[in-house]
Formats: sequence, structure tokens, C-alpha cells
Amino acid sequence: MVNAIRYTSSGGRISIRITDSSHDESRFASVSITDTGVGIAEEQLPFLFDRFYRVEESRSRHTGGMGLGLAIAKEFVEAHRGFISVQSDVGRGTQFTVYLPCA
Ligand SMILES: Nc1ncnc2c1ncn2[C@@H]1O[C@H](COP(=O)(O)OP(=O)(O)O)[C@@H](O)[C@H]1O
Ligand SMILES: [Mg+2]
Repeated sequence: MVNAIRYTSSGGRISIRITDSSHDESRFASVSITDTGVGIAEEQLPFLFDRFYRVEESRSRHTGGMGLGLAIAKEFVEAHRGFISVQSDVGRGTQFTVYLPCA
């Protein structure tokens, strides 16, 4: 959520959607955060969850951040046997979805 705000300029839109979904016969509660921000290039996506990784443009921008947020989020979600997915288009925006198993 902080990322969505940080990487979306004023006038953009950020939305949150909470729903239930199934994957491999397991049920999950999913929380999607979608923004209309700067987006992330496809070749960067595999590294986003690495500790201290920040996309080139963010390093030079005054947006703070140490590149730890997504690494911590991933560890936390996986400790709960969930997972995170990301979809993004440069210049259009990003959607992160956290899936947490429902008993
Ligand atoms: N919603 C987003 N829109 C665009 N880029 C993002 C978004 N979320 C994360 N990123 C990119 O992924 C990098 C890693 O994110 P994160 O681990 O939260 O670190 P940071 O502390 O830099 O926010 C960020 O530096 C940024 O380049
Ligand atoms: Mg962050």
C-alpha cells in the first residue's frame, strides 16, 4: 500500500480489492492493490522481492525506501503459507495480490 502511494503521482488512482479465490483446490483470501503509477518493467519483476532491490529509477528518485518492503512482505506471507503475485505495465500501473490460505 505504501508502495502504491509512493510510486503513483498525484491524480493517480489506487484501489484495494478483497475477495476469495481457489488455487490447486485450496481456498485463499486475496487482497489486490492496484495503482495507476509508474509501473515496473517486465525484466525487473523477478528481482522485486530480493532484499535491498530497487528498480533503477526509484534509486535516483526521492521516494525513500530501502528495497526491503517486498522482501519482508514475501517472507511474512509465505510464513502463513500464502503467496504474492505481481502484474505491471510500465507507464500504466501495477497490481500486487497477496493470497492467504483460508481454513
Ligand atoms: N506499486 C509500485 N509501482 C512501481 N514500482 C514499484 C511498486 N512497488 C514496488 N516497486 C518497485 O520495487 C522496488 C522494491 O520495492 P520495496 O521492496 O517495497 O522497496 P522500497 O523500499 O524501495 O519501496 C521499489 O524500489 C520500486 O522500484
Ligand atoms: Mg516499499
